[in-house]
Amino acid sequence: MTTRFWHPFAAMGAVAEAECVIERGEDVWVFDSEGRRLLDATASLWYANVGHGRREIAEAVAAQMGRIEAYSAFGDFVTPPAQELTSRLSALAPMPQAKVFLGSGGGDAADTAAKLARRYWGQVGQPRRQMLISRSAGYHGTHGYGTSLAGIELNREGVGELMPTIQVPHDSASALSAAIEAQGAETVAAFFLEPVIGAGGVYPPSEGYIEEVARICEQTGVLLIVDSVICGFGRLGTWFGIERWPSVKPDMICFAKGVTSGYLPLGGVVVSERVSEPFFAPGAPMFRHGATYAGHAACCAAALANLDIMEREGLLARGAEMEQDLLAALRPLEQSPLVAQVRGGVGTMAAVQFAPSLLESDPSAVATAAMAARRSGVIVRTLGQGVAVSPPLTATTEHFAMIAAAIGDALSELERSHAGMAEV
Ligand SMILES: Cc1ncc(COP(=O)(O)O)c(C=O)c1O
Repeated sequence: MTTRFWHPFAAMGAVAEAECVIERGEDVWVFDSEGRRLLDATASLWYANVGHGRREIAEAVAAQMGRIEAYSAFGDFVTPPAQELTSRLSALAPMPQAKVFLGSGGGDAADTAAKLARRYWGQVGQPRRQMLISRSAGYHGTHGYGTSLAGIELNREGVGELMPTIQVPHDSASALSAAIEAQGAETVAAFFLEPVIGAGGVYPPSEGYIEEVARICEQTGVLLIVDSVICGFGRLGTWFGIERWPSVKPDMICFAKGVTSGYLPLGGVVVSERVSEPFFAPGAPMFRHGATYAGHAACCAAALANLDIMEREGLLARGAEMEQDLLAALRPLEQSPLVAQVRGGVGTMAAVQFAPSLLESDPSAVATAAMAARRSGVIVRTLGQGVAVSPPLTATTEHFAMIAAAIGDALSELERSHAGMAEV
């Protein structure tokens, strides 16, 4: 049967008649409509940090819906869970007196941050500061600003004119410095930074890179926007990921995904005092921005229950505790001639990048490998040049071994088919 569901980021010609229907989840496992149990090595789309099927979150949401499901937050309205969540996130954030702007996901967090950065500069008398800088391989969602900021080139293509942005190589602080100088700091609004690049390939920052770009931003006045949509809520072992570099003081932090572990959609921006102050002063203008579901009560209740679980079970720290174990489990895959590199070691996330010769000779190698891993019982995420994993923070070294074995099986399958191709 041809589906009526147009899947995001999917080649529908291939997917339309071959959907994988996930019916249920339990901790690190999901179960499909054919009754197969699959290890969710990707925590769904990098978000199921506390694992699947937590009754406690479902019950918190049901209890909130029994009181009121949601109410507008425009103007002076608010619900208790939105108040409680924003207070809690503000207290956890690595900036004093932070304010929290809520939305429904990571893409609208990135767009909110970009728009607020430009609006901020207008408000403080520097309206020429409009340019936004992002990094190669970076991903900031698929809304207007996020598409414009995309460091994954394919995500910018074919949609006409975008917002003015500059992309700099993700591993070079001096390239950022040069770009700001060439552009003129007085016209640059903000720099977007994923602490560890996720969707673009799992690139941990090189030693000193994050401190250096933060210093460059501070020196030039450019706002530092940390996109922790993947890196937050335990993935890097801290609330917002960026605390791993304690000297860094972001002007804004985008978050989503792990804040609810995906039980309901929620995202937002933690805003420093520097940026919020011009909008909070008596008589200050409003920030004319916000979505219908900002501060949605049931979503905020899901987040609060999720944070409770993380605190009680010590899951926050596990993202850092397990990072070397995950890398160590995958490292031996580098011995395969089909693998160029295994990356990871900062946070519980890793990538296996395929050899250029494989990708050239077989453009569908990544998709083939992901399907083969699935046949071995493990869901991995496809990247442009390999596969990524980011298991729930409840995963153990046994699960890491299963992930490595399944990717190993996939590589063996590719090796066999390529040996066959070579013989033809
Ligand atoms: C770093 C980063 N920012 C933003 C987004 C966009 O989030 P959403 O898909 O919730 O719009 C993502 C999604 O993967 C992300 O990884």
